[in-house]
Amino acid sequence: MSTTFTIDTATSRANPTPSLARRLTVPAIRRRKGPDAEPLVMLTAYTVRTAQLLDPHCDMLLVGDSLGQVIYGLPSTVPVTLEMMAAHGAAVVRGSHHAVVVIDMPFGSYEASPQQAFESAATLLKQTGAAAVKLEGGEAMAPTVRFLSERGIPVMGHVGLTPQAVNVLGGYGARGKSDAEAAKIVADATAIADAGAFAIVIEGVMEPIAIRITEEVACPTIGIGASARCDGQVLVAEDMLGLFERTARFVKRYDDMAGRISAAAEAYAGEVRARSFPGPDQIYPSKP
Ligand code: KIV
Repeated sequence: MSTTFTIDTATSRANPTPSLARRLTVPAIRRRKGPDAEPLVMLTAYTVRTAQLLDPHCDMLLVGDSLGQVIYGLPSTVPVTLEMMAAHGAAVVRGSHHAVVVIDMPFGSYEASPQQAFESAATLLKQTGAAAVKLEGGEAMAPTVRFLSERGIPVMGHVGLTPQAVNVLGGYGARGKSDAEAAKIVADATAIADAGAFAIVIEGVMEPIAIRITEEVACPTIGIGASARCDGQVLVAEDMLGLFERTARFVKRYDDMAGRISAAAEAYAGEVRARSFPGPDQIYPSKP
C-alpha cells in the first residue's frame, strides 16, 4: 500500500473542505467479509504521531480504552473516562487521513441504557470526528447496539475476553474453555451482529469459537487471540512494537522498542555525563 497521500482539491457540500486522500468508510469495512475478502488490518493508536505512522498501513485505527494501562499506567481499563477517550480520539483523527477511526466507549458510559449509550457515543463522535464506537458485551448489549446503529452511530462489538468485565471474569485468561461458555460467546456475537454491529472484535477465545462466529455472523470479525481465519486482526500497537517485556500469549512482537529506547537513553546519558553532547552540530557557535 502506498504511504504517500495527494491533496484532493475537489469539494462538495458533503465534503466542503479539500482533504487528503479520501478516508475508508464504515460501509467499505463492512463489505470486507469472508475468506475471499482482503483481511482487515487494525491497530490501536492513542496519539497524533502514532496515528500518523500507523495510518497508511491500517484499515482501522482503534482508540482503545487500553490507553488506561498503556498511557496512564492504570491497573485496568475500568477507571478510563469519556474525557480521556475524547482527548485521545481527537488526536488520532488529526493524525490520520486514511483509516476509519473507531473509539472505545469507556466502562460506565454506556451500560445503563441505550439512551446513556447514545449520549456518550454522540459526545465522542462530535468531539473527535471518529466514525464509529466500540463497546464490550453480548446479548445484554444487543438492544443498545440496535439503538445506536438505527440512529446513525456505527457500532463495533467486542466479545469473548472483555477487559472491562475483569472484576466479573476474575482475570484476563482465555474464554470459552467449557462448552457452555463457548455457546454463550457464540450467542453473544450472533446477537450483536443481528442488532446491526458493522464488525465484531473477538478477543482471547479458544480458536474453534472464533472460526464458528466468523462463519456464522454476517459482519466481519476482528481477531485478537482468536484465529487467523477471522476477517481481520487487531493488536495493541505498543504490544506488537515490543514496548512491554511481558504480554499476552497472542501478541507477536514485530520490534523491540523497549530495548531500543533504553539503548538510546543510555547512549544519551553517557554523552551528557562525558560532556560530548551537545557537539558542534547541536550548538549555535558565536559569529566569527
Ligand atoms: O482497548 C483496546 O485496545 C481493545 C483492543 C485490545 C481490541 O479493545
